[in-house]
Amino acid sequence: VAAEKGGYDHFMLKEIYEQPKALRDTIKGRFDEEGVNLNEIGIDPELLRKANKVVIVACGTAYHAGLVGKYVIENLARIPVEVDIASEFRYRNPIINKKTLVIVVSQSGETADTLAALREAQSKGAKVLAITNVVGSTIAREADSVLYTWAGPEIAVASTKAYTTQLVAMNIVALALAQCQCALPCSEIKAIAETLKQIPAQVETVLTQADKVKEISEQIKAWNDVFFIGRSIDYAVAMEGSLKLKEISYIHAEAYAAGELKHGTLALITDRIPVIALATQEQVLDKTVSNIQEVKARDAFVIAVAQEGNSEIGKFAEHVLTIPRTHAALTPILAVVPLQLLSYYTAVARECDVDKPRNLAKSVTVE
Ligand code: G6P
Repeated sequence: VAAEKGGYDHFMLKEIYEQPKALRDTIKGRFDEEGVNLNEIGIDPELLRKANKVVIVACGTAYHAGLVGKYVIENLARIPVEVDIASEFRYRNPIINKKTLVIVVSQSGETADTLAALREAQSKGAKVLAITNVVGSTIAREADSVLYTWAGPEIAVASTKAYTTQLVAMNIVALALAQCQCALPCSEIKAIAETLKQIPAQVETVLTQADKVKEISEQIKAWNDVFFIGRSIDYAVAMEGSLKLKEISYIHAEAYAAGELKHGTLALITDRIPVIALATQEQVLDKTVSNIQEVKARDAFVIAVAQEGNSEIGKFAEHVLTIPRTHAALTPILAVVPLQLLSYYTAVARECDVDKPRNLAKSVTVE
């Protein structure tokens, strides 16, 4: 087992560091001179042309990738998107038909609730696109088309490289929809594709902050509650950051839409409580900064994740973790990396079983 970990203390850390390669492999071959290479992604172009609604269904971290997918698809392709937890979807008689593109997301391709949701969607006449990491898995076999993530085997229960490659897949689907429905000019699709190709190297840059993140984890490890806040796509990233922290460090963590704080959560913000603030979205930056000031005024201990060159944020945060600049749809792939490292180092500092957290399984094949 030590050899399989390739010199890392845990599979989770190894998998965090494998992300640049996993992302490169997932992007490779997906674009050509026309924009998205539709042959390579395995989706029927006719389905992409006629889709008037997208429904994304998944569990756990894959569900969080779906939440990012909603922002990305709605922004780039201008098609309405609903995101559902698989165990809820099938019991609410969902409104879908043959013009609905249903996307199921599953690292393992074996999650029972996600598989049941896939079958439910097909029985209502929808075509199902699977985004999965395991070739030949049940979900891959039963879906109408498959877009593989090429993350390689993920052993740690807490998902890292599977999530970031799912985010790449969401962007590919969004661009494919935009292309087939002429929602974006070809030049813009190509420009975003070029920006996406920079992401693996940018993840490498983010990883160089690991020592700083480790120091911060020493300052949050003794707390019982940690809050994550963010607006728009950053809210989806906050949810994933919070899940990572609670599943492996057993610290109670919650994510809030930053603007919603004043409607309840602010009552929980007290002296030195850690608040992790995601502030990568230019169009809501002022609003997020004012939410950071609100928690700061209650003496919270603020750790911000912001784009490079943001000089404002340092005035209100104890620590700023930076990500390189990129397209607004792609920031989650970079912003989640410091959160993965933070949960990892915090769990190690609390002497938790990082790769095998109590009560959790890598793949849940019961409903
Ligand atoms: C389990 C795992 C999670 C994962 C979820 C969905 O709960 O611990 O990490 O996100 O299942 O798994 P899937 O294989 O469908 O992505």
